[in-house]
Amino acid sequence: MTPGSGAARTISREASLREVDPEIDGAIRAEVRRQATTLELIASENFVSEAVLEAMGSPLTNKYAEGYPGRRYYGGCEHVDTAERLAIDRARMLFGAEHANVQPHAGAQANLAAYLALMPPGSTLLGMALAHGGHLTHGHKVSYSGILFKAVQYGLSPETGLLDYDQAAALAREHRPQVLVAGASAYPRFFDFARLRAIADEVGAKLVFDMAHVAGLIAGGVHPSPVPFADVVTSTTHKTLRGPRSGFILCKSEYAKAIDKSVFPGMQGGPLMHVVAAKAVCFKEAATAEFRTYAKQVVANAKALARELTARGYRLVTGGTDNHLLLLDLREQDYSGADAETALHAAGITVNKNAVPNDPRPPAVTSGIRIGSAAVTSRGLGEAEFTRLGGWMDDALRHRSEPPALARIRGQVEELCRAFPLYANRSR
Ligand SMILES: Cc1ncc(COP(=O)(O)O)c(C=O)c1O
Repeated sequence: MTPGSGAARTISREASLREVDPEIDGAIRAEVRRQATTLELIASENFVSEAVLEAMGSPLTNKYAEGYPGRRYYGGCEHVDTAERLAIDRARMLFGAEHANVQPHAGAQANLAAYLALMPPGSTLLGMALAHGGHLTHGHKVSYSGILFKAVQYGLSPETGLLDYDQAAALAREHRPQVLVAGASAYPRFFDFARLRAIADEVGAKLVFDMAHVAGLIAGGVHPSPVPFADVVTSTTHKTLRGPRSGFILCKSEYAKAIDKSVFPGMQGGPLMHVVAAKAVCFKEAATAEFRTYAKQVVANAKALARELTARGYRLVTGGTDNHLLLLDLREQDYSGADAETALHAAGITVNKNAVPNDPRPPAVTSGIRIGSAAVTSRGLGEAEFTRLGGWMDDALRHRSEPPALARIRGQVEELCRAFPLYANRSR
């Protein structure tokens, strides 16, 4: 089409994003600025490397590759086969797994594909309740995991905030699930994998462990691994593992065929090959000594923040943390998790409101906040900065109704952010 013909104006395929679409370019630039100038404490987020970004932004996005390496339904797959084989081999090596499927688009698809590989719709799924730190895809009624399966939910002990293994075992005996799923979005302690295996074995259930949150800590050697215990392990790549926004599945060889079939053609069409390539880069990075140091620091930083907040009189669910996240228990405060999230946001500190065990407030309000150390640790912050951060959080929560005080804290946050730059050479 030619300009002025009355049809759509021609856009050169060589033009920059800024020229083609200034509105999207503006939104991206603003988001990059937001990430650079605030402290990101959302426990499920992280900052990927330039190499991961480069792979994700590559022309591999153009390639259709339904099937698996060497067995595709399209021609021209020789180079994406290389990328996917690298991703598979690296995932297997990193976690010591017999088989890996790196095609799930995200954690939710990985979970559903795992369930459907192990049991038909209508079977019973025993999982941890969302309100107790589990994930929607562990059997919540609004998720396909709760729609397709008879979901039974276990939770935390109200006294200790720890997973109630006795309750899970009793529910397993009563309901005889085909799959027991464990793993969490908001649980600050290690899991007892041997106990979960025993509960599953007693009733002949398969054990699925969803390591989405802690995959990077497992890869970095600071968290026990579920791989020797679980039949299937599902994960995302974008939380502590610091890869692209995506998912993957590990399993014993005996489930390999069923898992692969369940992902494709069962759950998905063509894999996102640019993201598969970025996953390969992420697995390579996570196998380095540098990443092990990072993972160690993530946990040390979470513990430093837990110490500081406790010293300042705050209650933490379970009294502390073994991993990258803390749950602040605000039940005794006259403000809610939502109020805390808003006040901290005004101070340049990003967290999310989160239910705590026996939460008297509704899910959209909550009596807690979830705080994660993985993202800002990627910027280079250490324990000294996390201790300062605890002070700022306390200051912001105490002065939550005073905009000038929140603006003052925001100034200090921005100064710290300038000292620990993110993506130094990029404006978008
Ligand atoms: C434990 C757990 N599993 C699965 C998921 C789902 O991952 P995604 O958002 O990539 O579908 C999450 C996401 O927060 C999670 O925390």
